[in-house]
Amino acid sequence: MFIIKVAIDGPAGAGKSSIAKAVAEKTGFVYIDTGAMYRAVALYTILHKLPTSGDELEKAIDKIKIDIEYNEKGQVLILCGEDVTSRIREADVSIVASDVATVPAVRLKLVDIQRRLAENHSVIMDGRDIGTYVLPDAEVKIFLTASVEERAKRRFMQLKENGETEDIEKIKKDIAYRDKNDSERKFAPLRQAEDAIYIDTSDMTMQKVIEKIYKIIREAQ
Ligand code: DC
Repeated sequence: MFIIKVAIDGPAGAGKSSIAKAVAEKTGFVYIDTGAMYRAVALYTILHKLPTSGDELEKAIDKIKIDIEYNEKGQVLILCGEDVTSRIREADVSIVASDVATVPAVRLKLVDIQRRLAENHSVIMDGRDIGTYVLPDAEVKIFLTASVEERAKRRFMQLKENGETEDIEKIKKDIAYRDKNDSERKFAPLRQAEDAIYIDTSDMTMQKVIEKIYKIIREAQ
């Protein structure tokens, strides 16, 4: 059987992880969430009161131990021996993750882990630079996006379902900050690969998007 690599890139809140996870289940491919790794580095800087760039962070990089495990719920992120899978989803970590992701030394360390995880089996990897930098030879590349308004609305609804509330304007502002940071950084910015298929999910149900990507993968197999 052929090994297939699927790269899904796009801005924050476009639904990449839920969609990638669902497609991975349907195809039996391993799902790799690269954003979780930047989030783990961000959490490390929060816990150790480190700046988000500069010498102090770069000197600490070797001490940041990131391990990826899998259980029945999916990817488990172990930071220096501790399961931080839930903690890294909190809002304070999101903004800091976008900041530490601009640091080349952080990216090089994480890209190395990501490429090793993708060896020898079919994977669906989501992030910002997967099709352009991490897996440039991926057989399938998708660029998944939606309007800022729609992404903010989805995030608002997701929080509401978890019994949390957040001002929608604040959500929009955070998303816009991360979009700018992620796409304007010098090293491996968020960008659509030339050979990626562009999907705007603003007016699509999640199920439609999953089916569309599944079909694209089947055609590539
Ligand atoms: O996908 P996410 O929201 O969990 O990602 C958190 C941050 O990590 C995002 O703002 C940018 C950064 N990131 C990145 O720069 N490159 C990746 N491949 C994945 C995430």
